[in-house]
Amino acid sequence: MRDLLLLGIETTCDETAAAIVRRRADGSGTILSNVVLSQTEDHAAYGGVVPEIAARAHVEILDHVIESALRSSGVKLVELDAIAASGGPGLIGGVIVGLTTAKAIALAVRKPLVAVNHLEAHALTARLTDAVPFPFLLLLVSGGHTQLVAVTGVGEYHKLGGTMDDAIGEAFDKTAKMLGLPYPGGPQVERAALKGDASRFALPRPLVGKPTPDFSLSGLKTAVRLEALRIAPLSDQDVNDLCASFQAAVIDVLADRVRCALRKMREHGLKPNALVLAGGVGANQSVRRVLHKVAADGGTRLAVPPPELCTDNGAMIAWAGAERLALGLTDELSFAPRPRWPL
Ligand code: KG4
Ligand code: ZN
Repeated sequence: MRDLLLLGIETTCDETAAAIVRRRADGSGTILSNVVLSQTEDHAAYGGVVPEIAARAHVEILDHVIESALRSSGVKLVELDAIAASGGPGLIGGVIVGLTTAKAIALAVRKPLVAVNHLEAHALTARLTDAVPFPFLLLLVSGGHTQLVAVTGVGEYHKLGGTMDDAIGEAFDKTAKMLGLPYPGGPQVERAALKGDASRFALPRPLVGKPTPDFSLSGLKTAVRLEALRIAPLSDQDVNDLCASFQAAVIDVLADRVRCALRKMREHGLKPNALVLAGGVGANQSVRRVLHKVAADGGTRLAVPPPELCTDNGAMIAWAGAERLALGLTDELSFAPRPRWPL
């Protein structure tokens, strides 16, 4: 097995991203470039991602983002071993833009295409940054997904639990919107929570103590709304206190659900080499701090990529593509976008 050089393209939501990653024969990896252009400003006025605006923005800037990733890595297209792109899940317009561009490049330079599952890319990033061996417990917490998964190999994902309603990132975003904070809400809630009193509001901790590691966030979100209505009009301090109370409730839920999943893995005879935290919510420092302790108490360690690799980026796509290519897994140019591709 020789070194592999991949271009990775990410366009499933509101980040247009491309990166060049090298995977060495020993399984380690290096990011040679990682360019992320966020469309946040294009969507802010609407309080969320508008699919049509996102797709058009990807069309306009993806070529430049790829060019910039190539230029800053010093790698030429012909030197690549494969072109990887997110094949889903995500917004269909964006996926089509990224995947079609990847196919065109693959065809032009006669290199294989690797269509990457966006969730798999989040899952495998900790193997690039932390060299985590299989098996591990994955906590995937993003704007669209909340899952606990036992990962036993590339392509081997055993779902232990998921959300029955909102994703955790979505709950952060909706809470922020409810309290008049700008989009995207996660980082705003985290910032406000630092100045707030987490004990001021007694919010529910849904499903804590339940025997399967599932989540339910809608009741918590409603509880925040009811408290906000009860004390309206809200002062800045009220908002800070609500954010702190909400974030504390989410963290209690996360800690309990992860403990439950670690137990489940052991019941299945699997000893987790790490608790891998992936997805945008993994950028939250309080979440990281508590899960670090939960992992240690559970006899394992927390592996979490740096914040810029927790949110959507091209390096995770290139890396997941490289892990697949190393196993001889490539895709036909006829690969169709899969907006609802499960892990
Ligand atoms: O993985 P990601 O970039 O995109 C998806 O695939 O969804 O995750 C975005 C989500 C958003 O809901 C955002 O509010 C949340 O991650 N997020 C955070 C933080 N940074 C991003 N949530 C809590 N605290 C943060 N610091
Ligand atoms: Zn994502």
